[in-house]
Amino acid sequence: MSPDQTPAAGQPDGARPRVFSGIQPSGDLHLGTYLGALRQWVEAQHERDNVFCVVDLHAITVPEDVDPAGLRAKSREVAALYFAAGIDPDDNVVFVQSHVREHAELTWLLNCTTPLGWLYRMTQFKSKSEGRESVSTGLLDYPVLQASDILLYDTDLVPVGEDQVQHIELTRDIATRFNHLFGETFRLPKAVVPKSGARVMGFDDPETKMSKSIARERDRHAVHLLDPESKIKKTIMSAVTDSEREVRFEHASAGVKNLLGILNATTGETYEQLADRFDGKGYGDLKKAVLEAVLETLAPIQARYQELASDPAELDAILARGADRARERAARTLERAQRALGVGA
Ligand code: AMP
Ligand code: TRP
Repeated sequence: MSPDQTPAAGQPDGARPRVFSGIQPSGDLHLGTYLGALRQWVEAQHERDNVFCVVDLHAITVPEDVDPAGLRAKSREVAALYFAAGIDPDDNVVFVQSHVREHAELTWLLNCTTPLGWLYRMTQFKSKSEGRESVSTGLLDYPVLQASDILLYDTDLVPVGEDQVQHIELTRDIATRFNHLFGETFRLPKAVVPKSGARVMGFDDPETKMSKSIARERDRHAVHLLDPESKIKKTIMSAVTDSEREVRFEHASAGVKNLLGILNATTGETYEQLADRFDGKGYGDLKKAVLEAVLETLAPIQARYQELASDPAELDAILARGADRARERAARTLERAQRALGVGA
């Protein structure tokens, strides 16, 4: 192995940290996805060497929910939203996971070194399998595919919302075990969680994390990035708070905390500034402020999205270029893992 292929020697001094992250095209992106993940990708994009993926193989783990024609369209929509949110296609690698076969192939190798018990312990698996009579092997194996995504690019940092931290820690464990068994092969990544917006809760139920799957069933659960203004208004103005009449900062209810958290994340105002502004005011005022801040955040994204959506051929060309660049890097790491195990041509 030449020195530049070893993960430990992978990053010369002063080089930008390597980043990988992804979002599933399993539903409409919402404010939680934006504040928890996408926004932090955009903010730090020029200081880092980024690979951003639309993880469509992760979106097929519940076959009952798969709509093949819809999935392809959704993958394009999610990619377009990356760019609409501000990701620069010239300075970042953006692609669709299934276009780079190395992800599935490395998953098999890692399956063989990952103890099954580690996967049964994952909170996301527990909650997604709860109440189902039967679940796919893929649903359990999902975090190994995620580990492959991350490890293929010798990733240093993985910017995600709070719910993904457990999967990134598992990725480190998977890499450490492989390195221990078969020699230094993978670089160990770290999760990066934003200071605000890492866990946006549902507007209709502030005890539960805003999620794409709940939003499919409940109209007032989430604000989606492409929702029209009237729908956003209805959702935010009907947000669940509590039976108090004024905004309280001490012992605030989950609903009020969520609204304040969204304001903090969208306007940058600190909790002290928000306390000055809202202490003693009614919930109507707070909701109006949240509505205004959310509309202001989403308007430029929606406008750019419309432009991108009007030229699907250009979007496909950008994604094909992204997949080519990703494949080149992924193939090198896969080969390293194959060599460590004694397989491959
Ligand atoms: P997913 O939609 O499950 O593919 O998630 C994509 C990214 O958004 C991941 O980094 C998640 O951690 C993040 N995310 C999803 N839902 C939320 C939420 N309610 N609050 C904050 N971050 C979230
Ligand atoms: N599991 C992540 C989620 O549900 C999506 C994902 C797949 C991901 N592969 C990844 C996130 C690699 C970060 C890095 O949100």
